[in-house]
Amino acid sequence: MKKLIVGNWKMNGSLQTNADLVSDVVQGLPASLNCGVGVAVPAVYVAQVQALVQGSGVAVAAQDVSQHEKGAYTGETSASMLQDLGVRYTLVGHSERRQYHGETDAVVAAKAQAALAKGVTPIVCVGETLAEREAGQTEQVVKRQLAAVIHQVGHCISELVVAYEPVWAIGTGKTASPEQAQAVHAVLRAQLAAATEHAGRVPLLYGGSMNAANAVPLLSQADIDGGLVGGASLKAADFLQIIAAAN
Ligand code: PGA
Repeated sequence: MKKLIVGNWKMNGSLQTNADLVSDVVQGLPASLNCGVGVAVPAVYVAQVQALVQGSGVAVAAQDVSQHEKGAYTGETSASMLQDLGVRYTLVGHSERRQYHGETDAVVAAKAQAALAKGVTPIVCVGETLAEREAGQTEQVVKRQLAAVIHQVGHCISELVVAYEPVWAIGTGKTASPEQAQAVHAVLRAQLAAATEHAGRVPLLYGGSMNAANAVPLLSQADIDGGLVGGASLKAADFLQIIAAAN
């Protein structure tokens, strides 16, 4: 499978800095692009970035989507709106959404389903906290988080992207070692394989302080099919080095 690198800008950017960053990334892409590249941008900038990446091979992702179809949900963005703008992916269940916005496994699953229903590929984020890892619960936690989505989306499982992001590695500079990440990816792959014969098609991304230096060993692991990159995706040179490692 081709690798997939998705930048997660989180709540960063402005019209000017977005234009500069995207222009630098697009100009620095490998001449022959053999991996998927996406950027998950704040909803308010989706249209701007969609125009900026036109024809470059870079896909636009949203960072969240509502589980509701439409109506009286002030502040939310629906999957149809993302579809309307030609958005290819949306993150669902990022740990910051789970932690700061109270998103439960059930809400995350409903969001994944809402996105799939409109042809927007959900990038389902799972991951354990430091306390859960230290208590030996890593496997149990990520399996519970993924099981909720598998149960909800039924035969569409093979259309998902899954991102393993250990919470203790996000924005902390602490990366899971390639072996630690691979061990969890193997668990997720096995869980998908028990649910669909197409588990090999589901890209499993690693996220959590991925950078230019650790991308190669992480991306060399058997079940690591790409990366979800936060901080390093805000610097064109760093993001481009990760893309080069995946290409
Ligand atoms: P980070 O963030 O690369 O800055 O650790 C990753 C993420 O939260 O998606």
